[in-house]
Amino acid sequence: MSNNPTIILGIESSCDDTSAAVIRDGILLSNVTANQAVHKQYGGVVPELASRAHQSNIVPVVETAIQQAGIDKNHLSAVAFTQGPGLLGSLLVGISFAKGFALANQIPLISVNHMQGHILAHFIRQKDELNKPVPEFPFLCLTVSGGHTQIVKVNDYFDMEIIGETIDDAAGEAFDKIAKIMGLPYPGGPLIDKLAQEGNPLAFSFPKPKVGKFEFSFSGLKTSVLYFLRKKIQENPDFIEQHKTDIAASVQHIIVEILVEKLLQAAQQFGIRQVAVAGGVSANSGLRQALQHKAKENNLELFIPPFAYCTDNAAMIAMAGYFKYLANDFAGQDVVPNARLKFGK
Ligand code: KG4
Ligand code: ZN
Repeated sequence: MSNNPTIILGIESSCDDTSAAVIRDGILLSNVTANQAVHKQYGGVVPELASRAHQSNIVPVVETAIQQAGIDKNHLSAVAFTQGPGLLGSLLVGISFAKGFALANQIPLISVNHMQGHILAHFIRQKDELNKPVPEFPFLCLTVSGGHTQIVKVNDYFDMEIIGETIDDAAGEAFDKIAKIMGLPYPGGPLIDKLAQEGNPLAFSFPKPKVGKFEFSFSGLKTSVLYFLRKKIQENPDFIEQHKTDIAASVQHIIVEILVEKLLQAAQQFGIRQVAVAGGVSANSGLRQALQHKAKENNLELFIPPFAYCTDNAAMIAMAGYFKYLANDFAGQDVVPNARLKFGK
């Protein structure tokens, strides 16, 4: 073995964030993300606009990440990129860039599953965090993003089983769609979170879905909020404006309750004492508080990622890439993006 450090460049472009990060021997050196404001006015991500924005962002974002890491790009060991799941056009920009970069710098390519990246974000450490505890295998991870809601049994870095997932909308999607009904801009999740902090979570009650033990369903909730608000607006056209904090708090309350309840049930059924949460919705303050409370009550050890690694970021892709590098798991130049990439048994 050589004593050269292992330095991985990670690239994330699956949705509407263009991100690049550098990890040296498992320690994060830089993580740079360009968000795309262009989608706000459309109430959701417009795939074609996302691809174009990735194209203009990717070179400066990668250059900044390398510069901030203080490394020479000739010392990079490999380039890791998100292969999927995500928007095909967006993934294509990252993958094409990674292929060209790997060829030009004569380094190997590593493909990463975005959802596994979210989970492996729990292993990211900065240089002053060497003693930071990380989850031990096996642990359960509630992965909640804009496109996915899953409870995953993580047996090893890349040995992950999906215990249950949503049969329709994802939790993040529910936040965003309900926010849209309330007239809030995209992405609505963080805005509902902010409004909810001022509201009463028990002001309005919405039904819980009747689905399998570890399954989730959020499309019924969205519809019941829609009908509820339509009715209220007929009685009072200013209802939403006058009650937006209570509506947000009540919606958040039910989503959080569903998520936490299922995660606790899974922990009990599988006899696992370490639980984690990952993905954009793990930034939600109500979810973080409820998980902290319930973990304490049930004597579980809880892992919540720092905010920077909840929503899409390349640090998690570089981290997953580092573990794949150690396992000699490389991709060829013929690798293609997969919008519906899956993992697990
Ligand atoms: O993981 P992520 O950045 O992208 C995907 O892989 O989908 O997740 C984005 C989702 C969006 O639906 C967004 O509204 C939601 O995460 N989100 C939140 C919060 N921050 C981001 N939802 C609720 N509360 C938040 N604070
Ligand atoms: Zn994501």
